[in-house]
Amino acid sequence: MNRPARHPLHTARRRTAAATAAIAGALALGVTGCAGGGPELKVSDGYVPQPAMADMAGGFLTVKNGGDEADKLTSVSSSLASHVEIHRTKGRQMEKVDSLTVPANGELKLGRGGSHLMFHDLKRKPAEGDKVSLTLHFEKSDPVKVTVPVEAANFAPGQGK
Ligand code: CU
Repeated sequence: MNRPARHPLHTARRRTAAATAAIAGALALGVTGCAGGGPELKVSDGYVPQPAMADMAGGFLTVKNGGDEADKLTSVSSSLASHVEIHRTKGRQMEKVDSLTVPANGELKLGRGGSHLMFHDLKRKPAEGDKVSLTLHFEKSDPVKVTVPVEAANFAPGQGK
């Protein structure tokens, strides 16, 4: 360990090492600062009820946000359909929306009678037991991929099958 001390460039080397350490420290701080803020999303409880008809299906899931910043679900793509819309229910009508907010330290719940996904132009009619892959796109967070089951037409979470 004493060998560098005899080297004429010892001082210069030390300075370089110190500068490198300072840069590494700054980078580490930057990364920590980044991870401390922003949305932290987790998708759960997704399912697609077996649809009555072959041209359209609904989809439900929950997006939990453990972060201190809100995010928005902006679009969804799927292996099941070439066209997936985000709908919300207003009174007894449903309407297409551009996005749904995932509140900070809260959740966006898509469920029967409320907001939901709508699959149009189905590539096949989903049957109970099938799996459907979804990619959820958000305003701030990276896309989230999930695989959800196709459940019986009258399935409701928490009530078993
Ligand atoms: Cu709808």
